[in-house]
Amino acid sequence: MSEEKSFYIKTFGCQMNGHDSERMASLLTEQGYKPAAELDEANLVIFNSCSIRDKSEQKAYTSMGFLRKNGKKKNPNLKIGFAGCVAQQDREEVFRGAPHLDFVIGTDSIDQLPEIVHRVKNGEEKILQVGFDPANDYSIETKVTSGKSQALVNIMKGCDNFCSYCIVPFTRGREKSRQLQEVVQDVKRLVLGGVVEVTLLGQNVNSYGKSLGGKEAGASFPLLLRALQAMADDLDTRGITDPTGRSGKPRGLRQIRYTTSHPKDFDEEMIECHATLSRVVPHLHLPVQSGSGKILKRMKRYVPISLYIERLQILRERVRGIAISTDLIVGFPGEEEADFEATMKLVETIRYDNIFAYTYSPRPGTAALKFGDTVPEDVKKDRFNRLMNRQAEIQAELNRSRVGVVEQILVEGPSKSNPRMATGRTLGLRTVNFSLPEGALDPLQLQGKFIPVRIVDSNAFALKGEAQIL
Ligand code: SAH
Ligand code: SF4
Ligand code: F3S
Repeated sequence: MSEEKSFYIKTFGCQMNGHDSERMASLLTEQGYKPAAELDEANLVIFNSCSIRDKSEQKAYTSMGFLRKNGKKKNPNLKIGFAGCVAQQDREEVFRGAPHLDFVIGTDSIDQLPEIVHRVKNGEEKILQVGFDPANDYSIETKVTSGKSQALVNIMKGCDNFCSYCIVPFTRGREKSRQLQEVVQDVKRLVLGGVVEVTLLGQNVNSYGKSLGGKEAGASFPLLLRALQAMADDLDTRGITDPTGRSGKPRGLRQIRYTTSHPKDFDEEMIECHATLSRVVPHLHLPVQSGSGKILKRMKRYVPISLYIERLQILRERVRGIAISTDLIVGFPGEEEADFEATMKLVETIRYDNIFAYTYSPRPGTAALKFGDTVPEDVKKDRFNRLMNRQAEIQAELNRSRVGVVEQILVEGPSKSNPRMATGRTLGLRTVNFSLPEGALDPLQLQGKFIPVRIVDSNAFALKGEAQIL
């Protein structure tokens, strides 16, 4: 194996970790490192772990343990790091049983990576960097690999909600928001560099600005959305960006997405933003977790289900065709058949475009531990399957109703199963694989472009289409 500075980052978990991995990759690139195509071709391997459920944690440990036996035998130059939420949670414990590990880096220490790698290369062993930054403000510049048309932009970090089942407030620390103008300038810079879609990230984006003094101090999530829309409108109006893309100028900010928000804060003002801001994508991911008031109270997420349904109805009236998705946990301690049925009923009432469902997994240090883990695994599994089967029927119906419709699709690249076809997503993030007319550009060249695609076929999980012009 060569002495070359090459790295490979294996990422688990949510978009937060995705964002952190992107940041680590950029920091390493600035230090002269090159990304390796495969893990065993790299001289520096980092596992960016997730701790949301026990299974996620095990996956990261197993994956990292895989290099224990032969990794350094095969490549004496190999350095190995462990990052992310499990690193933050288990700290020095991570080194136990992992003598091959060179460093452990927590979620709030990403920017120290170059220095840590430097120390490791100079022979230091078992470096542990897992502190939380004591500073009250949060300031970064988003780093993206050049040429990308989509970017993840962290607008805040941490979470103060402490939902009773959730590890995130422990692994990501207290909520801190970036200054509104800093985010706007950051996004502007990305847009001028060719980015057309940003996803604003936070565990709880509706709380954006609270740590800065909130609405009175000019910092709230709706204010941020409006400021981003205004900035992008201004760039288009002044001709600095060109939405047609014909002039070769950057195409401007076409789509603003965000994730994740909490039902308690999804208020009239947010509905207004969706209804009036043209660049905010008609898609809302609003995790509800359960349809039972009793369970929601125990989860410390109490919002009356009737209010949740009413808000989504108003939203749908104001933004026709908006896609709505959610997260659900089944088998939370104390969940009886009637509670589960309330969840099924909610899914049938809302008819979500997509759901992400999980069986409850007790997490260390969380408040829900006091309730025990009362629902047997086979009951959890059974409820999970019933929920997913019902949802698959609903999705199949919803997707079928789109056959014949032309949708604007942001091309992501060649389809995995057939490289002659392209793949992209609808505004509601449903995957669409579609054919291109003879003689059209190939899918790689179309990456980042919006293309009208006629939907010709569907199943519960994906759509098939034909590109309309090119
Ligand atoms: N901040 C986001 C959620 C982040 S975690 C939000 O509040 O919406 C993503 C999802 O994992 C959660 O919405 C929840 O459905 C699931 N989850 C979190 N902790 C869990 C646990 N202990 N067991 C099972 N699922 C869990
Ligand atoms: Fe976890 Fe709740 Fe915070 Fe989401 S809002 S990260 S579920 S504590
Ligand atoms: Fe997992 Fe941490 Fe995200 S626990 S879901 S990677 S915030």
